[in-house]
Order: sequence, then C-alpha cells, then structure tokens
Amino acid sequence: MKSRNVNTLGLLASLGVGAVLADTGSAPAAGVVHMDIQRRNAVDGPVVKLGRRSSSSGTVTETLENSINEGAYMANVKVGTPLQTVTLQLDTGSSDTWMVYTGSTICQGGGCNDGSFDPDKSSTFTDLAKGAFAIGYSDQSSAKGDYFNDVFQIGGATLQNMTMGIGLNTDIPFGLVGVGYPSNEAGVSSGQIKEYANLPVQMYKEGLVNTVAYSMWLNDLEASAGSLLFGGIDTAKFSGPLMRLQLYPTSDSTTVTEFAVALTSVTAVSKSGSDKLGSSAFPAPVVLDSGTTLSFLPDDLVQEMYKEASVTLDDNSKPVVPCNYINSKGYFSFGFGGAGGAVVNVSMSELVLTPVGNYTSGANKGQTACRFGIETVPSTANPSYVLGDSFLRSAFVVYDLVNNEAALAQTNFNATNSNIVAFPSLSATIPSSTPAPNEANIQQGVVSATPTSYPAAAGFTSTSAAGRVQARSGEVGGVMLAAMLSLGVGLVSFSML
Ligand SMILES: *[C@@H]1O[C@H](CO)[C@@H](O)[C@H](O)[C@H]1NC(C)=O
Ligand SMILES: *[C@@H]1O[C@H](CO)[C@@H](O)[C@H](O)[C@H]1NC(C)=O
Ligand SMILES: *[C@@H]1O[C@H](CO)[C@@H](O)[C@H](O)[C@H]1NC(C)=O
Ligand SMILES: *[C@@H]1O[C@H](CO)[C@@H](O)[C@H](O)[C@H]1NC(C)=O
Repeated sequence: MKSRNVNTLGLLASLGVGAVLADTGSAPAAGVVHMDIQRRNAVDGPVVKLGRRSSSSGTVTETLENSINEGAYMANVKVGTPLQTVTLQLDTGSSDTWMVYTGSTICQGGGCNDGSFDPDKSSTFTDLAKGAFAIGYSDQSSAKGDYFNDVFQIGGATLQNMTMGIGLNTDIPFGLVGVGYPSNEAGVSSGQIKEYANLPVQMYKEGLVNTVAYSMWLNDLEASAGSLLFGGIDTAKFSGPLMRLQLYPTSDSTTVTEFAVALTSVTAVSKSGSDKLGSSAFPAPVVLDSGTTLSFLPDDLVQEMYKEASVTLDDNSKPVVPCNYINSKGYFSFGFGGAGGAVVNVSMSELVLTPVGNYTSGANKGQTACRFGIETVPSTANPSYVLGDSFLRSAFVVYDLVNNEAALAQTNFNATNSNIVAFPSLSATIPSSTPAPNEANIQQGVVSATPTSYPAAAGFTSTSAAGRVQARSGEVGGVMLAAMLSLGVGLVSFSML
C-alpha cells in the first residue's frame, strides 16, 4: 500500500487546505446539507443503462456492466431561475453534474420522464465552454454538450454559481450528480477545461459545509431511500467503530482521483462454520462506487464465494442463486486496511437480487432463480475492482476528499433517528473515526491461502420460511441453460419467467 497521500495538487490545494481558510465562521449553524436519494428499479422506471465511467487513457479498462434490473439511486435537484426540477442519478464514480437538454433528440416525444433543462428559460444561465463537455460510460452510452454556470438547489441548499454540464447530444434520458474528485472531471481528462469546483467543492466554497467531504447511507435493499450528507456524518446510521482508511492513488499516478481502499480479507460465516477466504490479489484496491449496481472482485476470491453460497452461472455467465437464499443466515465479512481494520458484513439477503427465471431441472427444479450481486473481473494486467451498491447498502461510508481518506462502518438498516456531526473545519479528519491500526503494515503480494474445505457452505444454503421475493411477471420468455459451477452437479436447465 502506498503511503498516505494528502491531496496537494490541483483544485483542492488551491482552496488552501491546512491554511488560513480553515475558518468555520461563515458556515450555517449545522454545516451540513442533507439530500435524500431514492432507489429505483429499472423495471419500475426508465432503463438504467449506466456503467462505470471509462478511465482516461493509459490504463486498462474493463467493461463493468451494470445490471439494468438492479436499479440506481436518484436525487431530485433544481436548476436555473426560475428553478427547473430534474431527477439525476447519484454517482461517486464520476465528477460532473449534468442534465439533459430539453431540446435534445432523446427528449422528443416525452422521452425524458426525469426532467430536463432548458437554458432559454433560465435568466441566470451562463454558457462557459461550448462543446467542452463530453462524458462516456462503459456501456458505450455518452453525453456531449457544454459546460455552464447557473443556480443549483439540492437538499434545500442553494448554490448560486455551480458549474454543470448540459447534454445536448446524448442517448441517456436523464443526467447525473457526479461527486468524485474534480481531477476526474470529464472535461479535464480530455484537456478541454481546467478543473472546476464540482458539487462537493462548490458547497464548501459557498460556505454551506466546512470541508469537502460527505457520507452515504443507502439503507436496505428492501428500502426505497437512503441519504447523502454533505459536510458531516450521522452517528445514528451505523453501529460499531467507524474506521478510517487511506485512499489509493490511481495506478498510473501519485494523485488520488477515485475512492479506492484496501480490501484485505473476506470471511464466509454461517451457523455451520467460518471460512477465511484467500486471494492472490490481496490487498486488493477496490473502488467504492455508488454508480455501479453490482460488485466486481478478483476471480479467485469470487470462485470461493460462489462455492460458499452455491452460486451457479447461467448461459450468459451471470451468477444466480435460488431466490429463497434471501432467507439464508450466511454472510460475508469484508475486512479493510489490515488486521483490526474496518469490517462490513454483507448478508445473503442483500446479495440476492432480482428474479431472472425458474430452474427447470436439477436440484433447484421449480424454484425461481435470482441474480447474485457479486461478479468477477476479467483477469487483465491492471484489473479494476469495484464494490458497488450490492456491497455499499451494508456500509456507512464517509468520503473525505481533502485528506484522501474514506471511513467505513456497519450500516444501521432502517435507522429512523439521526445524530448529525459536522466536520468542524476544512481538512479536519472524519468525526468519530479511528484509523485502521495496521494499515501501514499491509504487505503487497503476500498470497493468502485458499481454504481446503468449506464448512460454512452448508449453513449458506439452509433457508426457512417462504422467500419474500416476488417473482416479477412480464419478463422475457425463452429457455436458458445454467451450468452448476465447481460443484460437479452438471447441467441444469433454466427457463426465463
Ligand atoms: C461563477 O463561476 C465562474 C467560474 O466557474 C466565475 O468565472 C465567475 O466569476 C463566477 N461568478 C460569480 C458571480 O461568482
Ligand atoms: C427495512 O424496512 C423494510 C420495509 O421498509 C423491510 O422490508 C426490511 O426487512 C427492513 N430491513 C431490516 C434489516 O430490518
Ligand atoms: C461481522 O462478522 C464478524 C465475523 O463473524 C463478527 O465478529 C462481527 O461481530 C460482525 N459485525 C457486526 C457488526 O455484526
Ligand atoms: C416459476 O416458479 C414460481 C414458483 O416458484 C411460479 O409461481 C411461476 O409460475 C413459475 N414461472 C414459470 C414461467 O414457470
């Protein structure tokens, strides 16, 4: 693991980190801005087709495809004078906030149900850089247009002069709120513009929060809403210690531009045992990315997890499990930052996702199959591991863009109370957090052993009660074959609902 890397380059440094600007006087009393985010299933609304943002040239990028049925987190915002309402997808994996232009082709004939933006109807609109905004996502969708400044309202807070993109030409019917590092702004990677103050930075500059940091609580898969809290943490939304981790610099540079932390262990736990899994990739840099619905981990590790949870692959090589595994009491315990570091337990009930079809033969004949929330990353020289929403729902995550740290704790599902603690000043460390004590001692390239047997596996497949997942009707018909993976069971045929 590289040593602590304080962001001394670029825009955050120009804000005067560690210098005289650390003044709390001008911020409003609470120093936080709270924003509700709604979870939406693609089957209930427009198709969510966003994947992870392609990285800039020089690094190998895999296509990490989001499952279109697993939904996304959306936030309501208002733009312009008078305010126009739009609903945008929240994304920690990109850094621009942009909306679809009302006059764009995709909005013709009522194609933009989430709202769009019409600059001609805003008296405060200023076009900044014509043609400079261009962003591409790994599923080949994209948006092109201009950067502009205007009034932006989110979570009841108003920013007077926010820089945003407008998608004049796009195949995505809604925009995004990208809350990543300014150095990762699309127009910066392409050399079109210099870094600008994106949403988290502008909130600081306009005095709404005391530092450039926020925390995210997605809540349960069964719940429809979570929240993003700029400038603070909410101690009622997690249990156990909130552990601080350093963020890895991007592999081809010394600068931190994304939220990658060190995954150092995974243990499968059930009533029949506890198996410490191994991976040649540990410590694995994993990006905490809310814009990705599934999680993508090292192949050797994922194969062990599939053995534990009896995950099989369908004809499209997508992992599935019987939907009633949602009642399994088994869980995976993810460890970060070495011994004694952050721990987040992810139960099977959070990993068993939407129904995709029925098994028509084999041990699970007659049962409904559900998508499993963890997949492998194709092995390449420079793999990019991601912990997306299927992991993030079980965690309370704090992103500190000034100190280049993240903090993780076990989430408190369905917490209704709130105890908000604001960061006191610019560059203050994450409130109520403790550093992972052995992070400096993490050894790269020490291969952790694969278990020789899997005693926990039996406990993963024992389920009781009826599955609470209701199979959805109206999906594609047809017949698929699902191969049982590594279990010697042979082929199982599988039909779509
Ligand atoms: C708004 O921001 C732009 C840069 O994004 C800057 O050039 C302009 O001066 C700002 N306007 C005000 C009123 O602060
Ligand atoms: C959270 O609430 C939802 C209903 O809104 C419920 O279905 C779910 O089981 C709850 N989760 C937990 C962990 O209690
Ligand atoms: C997570 O799992 C580990 C291993 O079983 C356990 O020791 C720990 O108490 C669990 N944490 C929480 C918050 O449940
Ligand atoms: C799939 O199985 C469920 C019960 O598990 C049943 O209600 C449903 O009709 C089946 N669907 C098809 C297409 O066979």
